[in-house]
Amino acid sequence: MLVVAIQLPGATPVEARQVTAPAADRGATLFRQRCGACHSVTPGINSPQGPHLGGVVGRRSASVAGYAYSRGMQNANRTWNTTTLDAFLAAPTRAVPGTRMMTSVANPADRAAIVAYLATRRQPR
Ligand code: HEC
Repeated sequence: MLVVAIQLPGATPVEARQVTAPAADRGATLFRQRCGACHSVTPGINSPQGPHLGGVVGRRSASVAGYAYSRGMQNANRTWNTTTLDAFLAAPTRAVPGTRMMTSVANPADRAAIVAYLATRRQPR
């Protein structure tokens, strides 16, 4: 039997473990449906509606050059990881007062799938 272990570049073991293929696949679909209108996952491509989310897991908040963040997001001062992303997607304006992003994801399993998908969009550093 052949066992292949996949470690994403730069991923901590915890994040790598949470990136299960089925969750990430479902997350890709959810992302297209709920986030894709405002966010690209291609670094450097900001839509008029939102900053790109390529490599967002492990990235500092409000750090995409050339995107005009709200004052609230500029003051958020955190690193996006599975915990901070989950809290932000559950209740954006509670997690980051003053943010312009209003889209929340009520279902915890949907949030986890979206974050798992975003973790596969990590950028090598
Ligand atoms: C209607 C447009 C819209 C939709 C839909 C949307 N967002 Fe956003 N998002 C924004 C805007 C605008 C910002 C910048 C917020 C600010 O500056 O306060 C943002 C910011 C973010 C950030 C912070 C990025 C950074 O660089 O710090 C994350 C993470 C994020 N969105 C994730 C998501 C996810 C995941 C979804 C889908 C569930 C989603 N967004 C859906 C408009 C949207």
